Amino acid sequence: MPTARDIMPGLRVLVIGGGGGGIGAAITAGLAAAGADVAVVDVDEARAKAAADSVAAQGRRGVPVVADIRDGADIERAVARARDGLGGIDALVTVVGGLMAFGMPFDRLDTWTDDEWDFVFDVNIRYVYRALKATLKIMVEQGTGGAIVSIGSDAGTAGHGSPNMVAYGAAKAGLAHLVKSIACEYGKDGIRMNMVSPGATETAATAALPAATVAAMNATIPLRRRGKPEDIANAVVFLASPLARHVTGQILGVDGGVSVESPMPDLSVIGTK
Ligand SMILES: NC(=O)c1ccc[n+]([C@@H]2O[C@H](COP(=O)([O-])OP(=O)(O)OC[C@H]3O[C@@H](n4cnc5c(N)ncnc54)[C@H](O)[C@@H]3O)[C@@H](O)[C@H]2O)c1
Repeated sequence: MPTARDIMPGLRVLVIGGGGGGIGAAITAGLAAAGADVAVVDVDEARAKAAADSVAAQGRRGVPVVADIRDGADIERAVARARDGLGGIDALVTVVGGLMAFGMPFDRLDTWTDDEWDFVFDVNIRYVYRALKATLKIMVEQGTGGAIVSIGSDAGTAGHGSPNMVAYGAAKAGLAHLVKSIACEYGKDGIRMNMVSPGATETAATAALPAATVAAMNATIPLRRRGKPEDIANAVVFLASPLARHVTGQILGVDGGVSVESPMPDLSVIGTK
């Protein structure tokens, strides 16, 4: 009888930003529960260690790696340490990203500075490019294919724009296109790349919101609730696992349907027969 642990048996996964209290930690835990060994990169040493310990507590190998993804050389070192600690890399998950979590403004474009714009692109897309370069090389050399999953955002992939967070939306939209390009470039090597694009999710950043704000937010979501970190983790496990072996270049919205919700014009004016 197959169990959850047969979903990713012994696969070696590198999670960048896997130590966070929200989505990152849920992804790390979900991968370990699915049978994977996990290297966790985080700028916060205690978080990297706690996440790696949580993997070990599930009977899998957990490798903590402390690195700042804003530093290109640090990323190369981190990927090499993950490869050495796990004995190879079968999958990469990029989690780090955000806007307000980094103290960036939520405001109209004309108030933004160049430094703020660059920072948002740094922590949402440039590090992914750098991590990809280092990891793809390893995967191609291994010759056994691989899976890559990046965490996007409905701010960059839903049909609507992202007012007051233009840089964030633009970076995540760029990431979505990068996913498609990598899927095309590396498909012949058996390497797949997909994106999980969350809508509003219950994390520390949004926990402090007043109940009325949460209620108003939920009312705009077809499923009438924000996502939970585990909802995002479940989708990541699927896409990183062999269950998704014929899925590549896709953007999977895990957003309660918010990306397909748009007001319909009032069709009652057409009338019926
Ligand atoms: N929370 C939401 O509502 C929401 C909605 C849509 C998309 N997302 C996306 O989900 C992802 C995770 O967001 P989250 O808020 O749940 O984060 P999280 O709580 O999972 O934490 C992310 C981790 O990244 C680490 N980190 C930060 N800067 C780093 C750096 N320079 N180097 C290495 N590690 C670093 C942090 O220490 C933290 O542990 C992001 O890509 C975000 O854009 C979140």
